Parts: sequence; C-alpha cells; structure tokens
Amino acid sequence: MIKHVDDLFVLSTISSTLVLSVRTLKKVTTEYFGKRLSDDIDLTPILHTYGATRGRSTILEKEGPNISLNDIPSDFSTPLLGDYNNPSIIIDGDKGAVYDFRFLSFEIIEHRKKNGYPTPHGKAQELVILLQDEAMEAELELHYVCYEEAGVIGRYAILRNKGKEEMRIKKIASLQLVLDDRGYELVSFNGNWAGEWNKDVAPIHKLRYSFGSFTGSSTDYNQPFFILKKKECSYLNGECYGFNLIYSGNHLEEIENNSYGEVRIITGISTLFFEKSLKEGEEFETPEAVMAFSKDGLNGLAHNFHRFVNNNIVPENFALKPRPILYNNWEGTYFKFDEGKIMSLAKKAKELGVELFVLDDGWFGHRDSDNSSLGDYSVYKKKLPHGLNGLSKRIHKLGLQFGLWFEPEAISEDSELFKAHPEYAIKDRFHKPLEGRNQLVLDLTNPEVRAYVINSLKTVIGEAELDYIKWDYNRCISNIDTRDTSFFHNYILGLYEILEEIKSAFPNLLMENCASGGARNDLGMFSYFCQGWVSDDTDSFQRSSIQANMGLAYPPSVMDNHVSGKTSHQLLRKTSLDTKFDVACIGVLGYELNLNDLDPIDEKAIKAQIEFYKEHRETLQYGTWYLFESYEDNRQVIEMLGKDEAVASYVLGISRPNPKQEVLPLTGFEDEATYDYSVRPTKLDPKRFGSLINMVTPIHIKEEGKLVNIVSRRFGLDAEKFQGEVSGSILNSGLFRLHLLWGGTGFGEEVRVLGDFGARTYLFKKK
Ligand code: DGJ
Repeated sequence: MIKHVDDLFVLSTISSTLVLSVRTLKKVTTEYFGKRLSDDIDLTPILHTYGATRGRSTILEKEGPNISLNDIPSDFSTPLLGDYNNPSIIIDGDKGAVYDFRFLSFEIIEHRKKNGYPTPHGKAQELVILLQDEAMEAELELHYVCYEEAGVIGRYAILRNKGKEEMRIKKIASLQLVLDDRGYELVSFNGNWAGEWNKDVAPIHKLRYSFGSFTGSSTDYNQPFFILKKKECSYLNGECYGFNLIYSGNHLEEIENNSYGEVRIITGISTLFFEKSLKEGEEFETPEAVMAFSKDGLNGLAHNFHRFVNNNIVPENFALKPRPILYNNWEGTYFKFDEGKIMSLAKKAKELGVELFVLDDGWFGHRDSDNSSLGDYSVYKKKLPHGLNGLSKRIHKLGLQFGLWFEPEAISEDSELFKAHPEYAIKDRFHKPLEGRNQLVLDLTNPEVRAYVINSLKTVIGEAELDYIKWDYNRCISNIDTRDTSFFHNYILGLYEILEEIKSAFPNLLMENCASGGARNDLGMFSYFCQGWVSDDTDSFQRSSIQANMGLAYPPSVMDNHVSGKTSHQLLRKTSLDTKFDVACIGVLGYELNLNDLDPIDEKAIKAQIEFYKEHRETLQYGTWYLFESYEDNRQVIEMLGKDEAVASYVLGISRPNPKQEVLPLTGFEDEATYDYSVRPTKLDPKRFGSLINMVTPIHIKEEGKLVNIVSRRFGLDAEKFQGEVSGSILNSGLFRLHLLWGGTGFGEEVRVLGDFGARTYLFKKK
C-alpha cells in the first residue's frame, strides 16, 4: 500500500515500512525504512531534524534553511553541490556536470511494464516521483514499487534529456538508500566455478566498500545480492536488510559509512565501460533494484525474497507449479553417447520414476568435445541417426518429457556459423579475441545475431517438440569494441529481447538457467527461467553450503540439484547416493550419473528416494525454508515446513570421536499438535565398516575383498531406526534429541552412522 500524507510517502508491505519525504529542499529522502509501522500514525518523531548546521558545510540555499546536501538522507545524489559522499548519479554533458534535481510532482500507478527489462508480475503499486533541473533541461523519475504481499520494495530511475545539448551518463544507480549506522555487518557472497555462494561477513568500518561483477554476467565472483545485518542478528532473530538487482549483467554495489554515522547503500549497473549518451528527448531507464527488511533474522529476510521470486519473478505459467524430477546425462556420459545409450538411460530413468529426460551438451554439429559446433544447432547424425524428432518421439513414448541443452550465446571457431559469419563473434578491432572453454561469444548487440539465435532455437524447440531447454553460458566476455560505450549493458538487453521472444513463442516450455553452474542465477534470468542449475559442484557437502547460502536469496523451487555418482567428479570425494539425495532433495530434484552402472542396491535406493520426493514434493519445493546452522558450524540443518508436515535435511561436516548429544533445531510447528517423526530409511554399505565387519561375521572377511564387494552391491545394513510421536511444542523448543553418532564402539538401531560429510532426512507429519 502506498499513501501520500502531506509531503511524505508511506510504502507499507507485510514486513516493512518505507517513509519518503520531499519536504527538505525538494529532494527525496528516506526518513525511515524498517519494521512495519502501524497505519495512520503521526510520523513526525521519525523525521530527520536540521536545527543546527554542521561545520564546514556547503549550504544549498542561502535564503532557505541552512542545510547542506551532505546532511540529508538522500535517495539519489549528484556530485558538485555539497554532497561529498559517494554519488549515485554522475552526468557530464555539453552543459556540464552540476545537476540539481528538485521535486516537481508525483503519481501512484499500477506498476508499469519496464522498458527493455523483465517486469515482475502480480499486483503492485508504484510511486513515481518526478524531479527536474530546469536550468539543465533534465528530468529524473524515481520509481518505487511496492510488492506488498512479498514484503519487497523495488526502486529504479529514469533520466530524461529535455534540452538540445547532449547529456552523457557516467553512472546511474538503481537504488540509493541512507540508513542510520547501527553497527551493521555486511554479508556478501563471492564465488567462482563450482564454488559459488561463499558467504563473507564483515563489520562495516568508516570506509567505502565496493564490489560487483564485470565479466559480462551478474554472479561471477560477487552476487548482486547482499545483506546488512545487526551484529547480533542470527538465522532466526534480529534485524537485517537485503538487497538485490533484477539484472543479469555487470553490476556495482557500494556501501559507505561516513563520519556522520550514516550508511549509504548504492546498487546498480557497473560503471566500468558504461557510458550512455542522451540526445534531446531521449531517456535512460535503470534496471530495478529490490530491498527487504526483516526483524526475524536471516530466515525472515529470505522469506520475503522467496515469496517475491515465487509469486512475482518466475514466469507466471510456472509460478507455484510442481517441477518435474529430471535426469540429465552430462556427468553420466559427457560427450560420449549415441542414440542407443541415450535410450537405455531413458528407459532406466523411467523405471526409477524420473519424469523428464534431458539430453545435455554434444547432440549437434559434430560436437565430440568442447572444441566445436557451438552455433550450429542441427542434429549430430552420427550420434542420433533418427534425428531429434526421432529421439524425442521415442522418449515421449516412454512416458517421459524431453529436453535439450543449448548454449545459444556461444560460437565455436570450428562451426559452420563462424565460417559464414565470423563477424557474429564479439571482438575488438585489433586483437584476435580470446577464447574461453575453446569458444567465443556471439555479439547479441547485433540484431542480425539475435534473429539468428531466435530462429535456430525456435526451429529446434518446435521440431523436436521439446518440453524443456537448459540454457547454458560458459565463459566471461572479453575483447569488446568500446566504440559502443555501453556494450555490456546492450548485450544484456539483447539477451532479454531473445528470451522475451522465446518465452512468448513457447509459454509452456520449462526453461532452466545455467552458466557453468551458477554464474548467472539472478532475478533477471529467473524472470524467464523457472529454475536454475545451482552449481557444477555435485559433491554433496560442498553443494550443501552453496544451496544454503543461495537459499538466503532464492527459494528452493528455483534450485535444481542433482544426485550424481558416488565419487564426486569435482572433488573426488566419495559419498553415498542417499547422502547425495538428502542434500539434493531441498529444491528441484534431478539425477546425473550413469544409470546403467547402478548396482541393484543403488537402484532400490534411487526408487525409494524418488517415491519419497514425490510424496513430499510440495513441501520440498514450496515449503517455508529455514536454515539453522551452516558449514562453519560443522553441520548444516535446513527445514522445509509444509502443510501439516516438515522435512529436515541434516548434513554433518567432519565426524569426531566421543560425539556430543545432539538436538535438531526446528521451528514453525503447532504447539498443541502431535507429530509422527521418522528418519528416511536408508541402508548402510557394509564396506563402510572396513575390517570391523569381522566383529560380527562367522568367517573372516577381507576389507575391499571380493566377497564384501559382491555383498555390498546387493545388500546393505539397516541404518538407525528413529521414529515415534512428538509434541509440536517440543519440536519448537529446538531441543528435539537425535540418536548419538557412531563414536567408534557399538553398532545398533540407536546409533547414527554418518561418517564424514554424511547426511540424513527427517520427516514430521501432523497426526
Ligand atoms: C556447463 C554446465 O554447468 C554443465 O551442467 C553442462 O551442461 C556443461 N556445461 C556442458 O557443456
């Protein structure tokens, strides 16, 4: 809800209130952003006061109040007029660089469609504040979108040249927000290939912090998502603010804690290789930034963003819809497959309960490795002699949906496309463009290239009757021609144009986002893709922390996680398929291993996993997500709270001798209700016990010997038995006790044998 009272604007969501003012110098200021305030109260006590003038201030209006722009909590700032903090807008032009935008008018509208960017859907009110600098013949619109039900507020700006002289934008952020410094810590997320979403927590000193990405995509190295939290804020309690961008390109985040005790937060398009010229009548619109506040810790903050993504971001046709369980052949076969192999995998996948079969990289051109064929999306006949349509028909006949991998933005030098159109690749004028993963990037700023990509995709999707596509993007951009002064930005607008076309041509096509794993999982991409491949790291322990940290910004419904082979291809760590499932089941489940190599006991395990998942899919994809402990605590617990049930995933780090008593932190149960609890039944591989097995066998068994290998392919030992009834109030107490971990002695049904990096799934059902 947006209300206008005198010269204040009050934006209320279910979890926050933002109070803006235009009373001071006709500038827009944030007077309050925090916990939701009661409606219709006198807001005077929260307003900033300006009774005394600070020393050495540069006063904006001598005849007006003695106020400097340095002193006000401005929602935008331009340099050279007395505000010596970090500016969010820098314009240089034929008329100079001093811009003094003042309030002119406002309107409250139903939120408008964004120009060139994806627009969140669903109902939302939008406040548009128009500012003007008459002398410079320029207008600035600040837009505030109130996603009331989600608990999220959006912010973007439009700058307009109304004069004859050219304006050159050097910087234009989507959001500037000034908060009182209350001892905040900055929580940011850095990463790299197969190691996305590392969390970093740092106190905010009296410095200017800046981070971002300029690889061409949003989430390489630093996420645009970040948090400001009070020191004492934990997962469940305390105050914090979160910020993100609906944008997939280069971005810049800046946090400045000045000597007056104010924290200025700026986020938007990166200024590196960004300059936009505006001629008479032209305007530039920024991408939208979003922010949320929580008084209920990091989980509360996450819930705002989860609601926003589920209800307003992912394509409407897929919003809140169950996602299928998929099989992807990548780690199972890599490039080495043919139709026979694919069909036998598909049959096995179907038998195990999979719903969607995805053929990954290597089905087109003459692609036997990552050296060739990107850009040529005609079928590789040697591997698939009956063509895509033939394969698709056979897979559909099995009762499976069918999907394909593409890397639409890439081009191999060894391709028909490159031979015909070398100019389609991004390059500067003087150097041979650098390769990354043996490939170049298509220049999506060129309309002819965009048309080529759209046509190739439309042809294959139509002809092969695809239900799904995986859109990969495997390198960073280099060698741009800087004669286009905002190349990186125009590239992303080109990408959005293509995605818009594909989405409207195939509204029911399930599109999965991927960029060598999670190098471009952002709110912009999730506006077209209802799920994303979280990381190329399928080692369950490493993956569990990637998923947990990503969960602070994105809901499990957009996170595709796969159970891969027992030996991790990324870390060579060995983990059971059940442990892999216990991690992968929080979100969208998939399998990515050679199903034809499975032992009978593994097949049974996977069947049981899929049955469990189908039964609790709604909870696992759309339940309320809680993270209690993570990586740093040597164990991680995530709870998914659904309707009348909850599923908790527990992951151990390193196991230690003499384990302590352990409890499971949980929340959200009905105090007065009773719940059946159980651990998801799994089998233990007898090989886990090494030569200790001889303690219980009548004959001597050699560790790693033939006999134990034969047995372990078919039989497993029953893992712990853990079931019973428990009151909701005990579960809510956070002290629900687990069985002791294996501590070197005694094995029985009341012992949890997990070993290093083991996991468990617990189920709670209301009676
Ligand atoms: C990188 C992706 O992240 C993988 O899942 C796989 O699709 C490969 N690319 C294929 O080249």
